[in-house]
Amino acid sequence: MVYSEDKWISWVDELAEKDIVIIDDFISDELYKTIMDFFSVIEENERLKKAGIGTSQDYQIQKEVRGDLIYWLDPKRDPPLLLFFNLMEELREKLGMYCFISLSGSEFHLAKYPIGSKYEKHIDQFNKRSNRQITVLIYLNKDWKKGDGGELKVSNEEGGFTVEPIAKRMLLFKSNVVEHEVLLTNVPRYSLSGWLLHQPAALGSLLG
Ligand code: OGA
Ligand code: NI
Repeated sequence: MVYSEDKWISWVDELAEKDIVIIDDFISDELYKTIMDFFSVIEENERLKKAGIGTSQDYQIQKEVRGDLIYWLDPKRDPPLLLFFNLMEELREKLGMYCFISLSGSEFHLAKYPIGSKYEKHIDQFNKRSNRQITVLIYLNKDWKKGDGGELKVSNEEGGFTVEPIAKRMLLFKSNVVEHEVLLTNVPRYSLSGWLLHQPAALGSLLG
């Protein structure tokens, strides 16, 4: 186990209460380096591909709405990321224990937002596919500074707030309720993001 039970409980409580939790330095320096080394190899081998949105086929629209390049991870094909997958298993287990959310699976991708790209306001549950329960965002931008852009803007009833995409920070939020967007980035922006997926829960769920 990477984190103490107390830490998990406080994070899971905050997620349940506020729909979103931000955890700084969630990944270690070692794991950060492992992910970045892996990311470099994927990028050099030109394995990052234009991301789609929902079921839209229109490339022009996709480009305007969402400008990132992604690579879907696979625990079997991508063994260098074993530590990461283990950590996500721990997360899934704790959410099950303390929130009664039954999460049967997960999906993760690397994402690069090239200079001048963004992702317009959306929620992560598409109309035709609603099994995404918890969004996981891990930011990887080491020397991020004000003016670099690419902040995550979260909208809520009070208006909202922005989150800087700084290295080793993790965000968790409820995929079905939290509206968010990626603001235009002025530098290449790196992240590892994904979703914990649903299975009907026997004891009820904080997601309602
Ligand atoms: C997404 C998304 C936000 C981010 O991929 O659905 O909203 O900060 N990403 O990378
Ligand atoms: Ni999103």
